[in-house]
Amino acid sequence: MLLFTLFVSLLLVVLVYIKWQRNKAKYASIPGYEQFLPPPLAELFGKIVPFYKPTMPMTGFVNPSFVHREHKPICKIVSMGLTVVSVCDVEFTKYMTKNDTTLFSVDIGLGIAEFFKEYFGNNVASAMGKDWHRQRLLLNQCFTDKALTCVHDSTFDVMTRWMELLKKNNRRNMSEELTPITTDVIGKAAFGYDFGLVEGLHTSSEKPAFADAIHEIFANMFLVITLPKFIREAINFGPIARVKKAVKFFNSQTANIVAKRRKMINEGHPAPNDLLSVMINATAVDENDTVAPLTDEELAANCFIFMSAGQETTAKSLQFVFYHLCKNEHVLKKAQSIVDKVLGDRDVEYADVEDLQYLEWIVKEALRMNPPSSGVAARAPLKDIKYKDYTIPKGTMIFFSGAISANDDEYFPNAAEFKPERWESGNHNRYAFLTFGIGHRNCIGMKFAYIEQVLILAMLLQKYDMKLDADYGPLETKVVVQHRPAKDVWVTFTPRVK
Ligand code: HEM
Repeated sequence: MLLFTLFVSLLLVVLVYIKWQRNKAKYASIPGYEQFLPPPLAELFGKIVPFYKPTMPMTGFVNPSFVHREHKPICKIVSMGLTVVSVCDVEFTKYMTKNDTTLFSVDIGLGIAEFFKEYFGNNVASAMGKDWHRQRLLLNQCFTDKALTCVHDSTFDVMTRWMELLKKNNRRNMSEELTPITTDVIGKAAFGYDFGLVEGLHTSSEKPAFADAIHEIFANMFLVITLPKFIREAINFGPIARVKKAVKFFNSQTANIVAKRRKMINEGHPAPNDLLSVMINATAVDENDTVAPLTDEELAANCFIFMSAGQETTAKSLQFVFYHLCKNEHVLKKAQSIVDKVLGDRDVEYADVEDLQYLEWIVKEALRMNPPSSGVAARAPLKDIKYKDYTIPKGTMIFFSGAISANDDEYFPNAAEFKPERWESGNHNRYAFLTFGIGHRNCIGMKFAYIEQVLILAMLLQKYDMKLDADYGPLETKVVVQHRPAKDVWVTFTPRVK
């Protein structure tokens, strides 16, 4: 028995070694980091690839400041049997974009799409091929100028409530408070639900159950995704059980909301102004015919994806916006004078967003310097790709690290300078700015995100001066699912004397 066990173990080691060597040959043309042992074991032997250290495993793969420290423009990271290629080459991004649907797929084989389908149903982010095309055609109608008026209504309401807090204590931890704000905004704008998280900040009372479920899902979702399906199915305790319970609760709530709304619309009652009403009424025609409208399951699943894609990204983006704005007083003063000119003392309206373009450039500039997701667009080639001296094998996970080109003087002169005015000419290289991804699967919610942030800034700049804590040093970032400032951004808001 002992001999047999030894033999099987040896055979396994040999097989893994052969696979490792084959993989080495397959990716021989691409320089990078290779690590045979999984990180905890490798660390015991003192050898660990640098990109793991300050990051979470999943996102660590795509942290460009580490992977491209030694290797540009293309770099591989091989670990635990998984190979990822990270690219920070604008020409290659252009090549990918031009061949986005024919040579590349968004199905990068990590099982993320399957996970989303399994847990949250069929939505625009988990769908592929024709089904994705149909959903995207229908959902595009949620992001027209007319449909996005709901972002104003929701942001205005949530921020009015949050600004009440400033009367009690005007020094606020924006790193903590922006997530409740963006969650409340998207809950109301996407499906007319008030999570009341900002209210929770007021009273420190218990969060409503729906909001608790969201919190539970986001806190542990990445842990669950990293587990193989059979393990996550088998385990029913600890954080995994909690995520399952939260998902069940979340799905039953969204299903209720969708059913009630559908009934309301069918009975001819006026529909609330939010994205769900637009989704229910959306119709579209593709190259062949009228496409099938979204089913109730798809409506609920898309409510989930709007929540998850739009809440934390925007909160992280705003943390950087507040940091840069406070560090650059001349920008803050200019922004205030523009807000004064456009708004005077009256409340901001949706139509003002167009005239507040400078605020959009502020947000864009912060998103250029500090994109919340660093390995933005992720694609897998459908066949072997030969590019310059590199061969990228079919099926490889490729991450496009836009943070590198977006901070490169070649594409953005004096890239280290926070200069919103650089966006005025509109003639930057669009393949060098990937914060919202690129190609046919780019971010559908980009306009939503800009409008929300412009409105938040307008409301605050109109009434307050802002100061970052004086001892806040140079900006360092860390990855908690996405990039965020390593040190909490505390801002003091003082009523303006005009
Ligand atoms: C600052 C805020 C945001 C950032 C930085 C961001 C970034 C991104 C990125 C990088 C992608 C992947 C693009 C690609 O692979 O090429 C993406 C996809 C997506 N985003 Fe956003 N996003 C933001 C806000 C939002 C908002 C507010 C919503 C919805 C209301 C949203 C909904 C989505 C959806 C549904 C997708 C998947 C699109 C598809 O596969 O067709 N995002 N986003």
